[in-house]
Amino acid sequence: MTTSNSISAAPDSLGHAAFDMLRQLSAISESDAFLCRRYLTPEHARANALVGQWMRDAGLEVSVDPLGNLIGRTHGGNTNVPTLSLGSHLDTVRDAGRYDGALGVLLPIACLNACRDAGVKLPFNVEIIGFGDEEGVRFGSTLIGSKGMAGNLDASVLDVNDVDGTSLGEALEAFGLPKANALRAKRLPEDVSAFLEVHIEQGPVLESENLAVGVVTAIAGASRYAIEVAGLAGHAGTVPMSLRQDALTGAAEMVLAAETLANEHDDLVATAGKLEVANGAVNVIPGSVTFTIDVRSGVDQIREEAIEALRSKFEDIATRRGIQAGWSKLHENSAATCDAALSEQLANAISATGRPVRHLPSGAGHDAMAMAELAPAAMLFVRCEGGISHHPDEDMTVEDAQAAGEVLWTFLQTFDVQSLNADGAN
Ligand code: HGY
Ligand code: MN
Ligand code: MN
Repeated sequence: MTTSNSISAAPDSLGHAAFDMLRQLSAISESDAFLCRRYLTPEHARANALVGQWMRDAGLEVSVDPLGNLIGRTHGGNTNVPTLSLGSHLDTVRDAGRYDGALGVLLPIACLNACRDAGVKLPFNVEIIGFGDEEGVRFGSTLIGSKGMAGNLDASVLDVNDVDGTSLGEALEAFGLPKANALRAKRLPEDVSAFLEVHIEQGPVLESENLAVGVVTAIAGASRYAIEVAGLAGHAGTVPMSLRQDALTGAAEMVLAAETLANEHDDLVATAGKLEVANGAVNVIPGSVTFTIDVRSGVDQIREEAIEALRSKFEDIATRRGIQAGWSKLHENSAATCDAALSEQLANAISATGRPVRHLPSGAGHDAMAMAELAPAAMLFVRCEGGISHHPDEDMTVEDAQAAGEVLWTFLQTFDVQSLNADGAN
């Protein structure tokens, strides 16, 4: 790796070190058939234990915060010096790939190990955070760990139930974390000077331009709702088509209406990821259906107007079909802009490793969008094969992990917190 004279060269082992940890962590799953690690499950506890040990081996002081976030800090760090936070999430979607989230926790551990081995002393505290819930698979609401850390978690989320009827508060208690302490995960702005997340792109841009890494400019905002469609169950053979109040065909028309609306806008996507028919049977007209919609845009006004348009479209469909559509909000996050000064430092680190700098937006949500409420936040994207993610075929190369490691190594050695403070940031 070529760098400017003042920075010691990154070891060639960063990519392999990260891959070895990724391989071991990917073995912790709720199923032998696919990778799934949901928030506050025994698998989450096992992941915290394994990654926590790696953090200790890297010389970090390890703790678990009141929301189950795993935190490793360079102990003995002078509390009068600023803290650079690195990290991403340890939870996964169902039938996931091994890199989404985990790469952003494990590559920094590999880098701190290498700093220690090379005798590199960083003039600031570093903490690595493994957020417990970014995907929102278990409780629907997403970014619970990072929103809680940023102080933006609404206490009402503690009463949200998972599919088994266990509330988030009960799950915290079962995890050994008092529900009453949950909101104490909130950090003060002076605790964190900046947050950097390394994450696979989960899209095709870097690969299409043959680039290993990129700097994220902004993260799309998202709204997630559960839509409960109520019709009238009936006998599939005796109820004439003209007299039906079919909840499933109504829901299907609503799902297609969301797709049609998104196709009409450049900066808008809409996804119906789940659809459940209550008491479904081959010979029964569905009376009750629940589906989810996930609507995103880089521009909050476009997303908000899209939600309003869908409310109106779904109401028209329901009226025409004699059914009802009830909306329950699961999650909402405004679009987040990455901090310019921190992103410039990241871009300079990329350049210093001899690589071109590509800025690009993120359509996927990330913990960085929640942490941006607490401190200046930036993201380093890493190429993934075919842009595939949230799928077992999610893949990346060890060479690209090494490239990201070299950028992170360089960033750590050039991080200038004063430049962040210059514009009044934390
Ligand atoms: O859904 C998302 O955007 C993220 O991958 N959790
Ligand atoms: Mn994800
Ligand atoms: Mn992710």
